[in-house]
Amino acid sequence: MKHLLSTKGLGRAEAIGLLDIAEDMADVANREVKKLPTLRGKTVVNLFFEDSTRTRISFEAAAKRLSADVINFSAKGSSVSKGESLKDTAQTLAAMGADGVVIRHPASGAPEVLAASGWIDAGIINAGDGTHEHPTQALLDAFTIRRRLHGSASRGKGLDGVRVTIVGDVLHSRVARSNLWLLTTLGAEVTFVAPPTLLPMDMSAWPAAVGFDLDAAIAAKPDVIMMLRIQAERMNAAFFPNSREYSRRWGLDDERFARLAPASIVMHPGPMNRGLEISSAAADSAASTVLEQVANGVSVRMAALYLLMSGDREDS
Ligand code: NCD
Repeated sequence: MKHLLSTKGLGRAEAIGLLDIAEDMADVANREVKKLPTLRGKTVVNLFFEDSTRTRISFEAAAKRLSADVINFSAKGSSVSKGESLKDTAQTLAAMGADGVVIRHPASGAPEVLAASGWIDAGIINAGDGTHEHPTQALLDAFTIRRRLHGSASRGKGLDGVRVTIVGDVLHSRVARSNLWLLTTLGAEVTFVAPPTLLPMDMSAWPAAVGFDLDAAIAAKPDVIMMLRIQAERMNAAFFPNSREYSRRWGLDDERFARLAPASIVMHPGPMNRGLEISSAAADSAASTVLEQVANGVSVRMAALYLLMSGDREDS
């Protein structure tokens, strides 16, 4: 693997292979010494043009557990705020010898531009670009689902027949998009539930079912219900009347949570708006994987960094 830019282009065998390596990485986290020498002498740059806590520290922890050196570069307070272009930033990082670049950018497609540019010869990982993709989030979500379903017998398995309902702000969500491609590649069935205003105009090319009624979706007893954050920062207009109305119709409140099948899994990528898209009781329940998702994120990112940066990178 040369870069990890999207899940749309990821094949089933490749995706399962990455999840299996993440299982090995998770085993390392259970040892007394949580560190592997694999990327000793290599440098990972976290290039974040957009706010992030969990994704940035997750990549930082992953790189450090593989013994890489980590440079955190956030656009605020850097020369980027003085108008330096992506090209100049990339060339600066190349001159400093970056072997891997983890980029988060508000513009959809920025990681592709960087990977195709020739400005820098490093493995590029997309850590979220605009409303486009967030591949490591989808991989950690798939990893989390697979582990809840198969436990220690997860290796080699896909998600065949698993029914996943993704609820909320699909329009602005790169998490929803990356999950759609990855989960369906792994054999899962995806249903989106949202107010019509928070769905893309044309979803005909998406291999997913669409519904507008969360109660009907819950009555269908999905294996997984994934709540998305209302991304107020990407909204320049009113997409729903008010937050009370939103949670009344599309929030996973206590009453809806009680109607889920006992074995259902409740997911959220974080950060959560408690009381808006998800109630505290649902978020803190035994059905919730919110904290497992965070822990698994480190293992999955270790796997991605390992595949991109160890040994000779493949050309594919
Ligand atoms: C997601 C993101 O930034 O796209 N969060 C994350 O990576 N932890 C989802 C979100 O912000 O709602």
